[in-house]
Amino acid sequence: MAVYKIIEVGNKILRDHAKKVPKITPNILKLLDNMAETMYDAKGVGLAAPQVGVLKRVITVDAGDGLIELVNPIILKSEGHETDNEGCLSVPGTTGDVIRAAKVEVSGWDRTGAERVINASGLQARALQHEIDHLDGVLFIDRAINIKKI
Ligand code: CO
Repeated sequence: MAVYKIIEVGNKILRDHAKKVPKITPNILKLLDNMAETMYDAKGVGLAAPQVGVLKRVITVDAGDGLIELVNPIILKSEGHETDNEGCLSVPGTTGDVIRAAKVEVSGWDRTGAERVINASGLQARALQHEIDHLDGVLFIDRAINIKKI
């Protein structure tokens, strides 16, 4: 296991579209392990592979209710709206208020390649939407109002 260097805003990689993962390979498992370790080390609630320089559709999230690892995640359903303050490990020292769906149903592969469906609300729903945005080159500062440097 290893902690990756987190890429910061200004680096073009963060603006690229990540590619679908065709199948789970040892490299993908290693990526998942190292992303989780990097996320916990940085005290983040989520991480997307492009943030560590890997343009693949892979995310990790832990909003306090356990580790979620998803490959090729997609949002199946969204419900309601909620505004809350967000930050991002790739945009250090910055926060902003972002309107997100209050609840989402997300599906993707787990590390065995099995489809996993997650019904999330609150911070978990927010983190999933934020990380899936990263896979399409979208940063929270593109959506935020009241952006503040802290
Ligand atoms: Co982020």
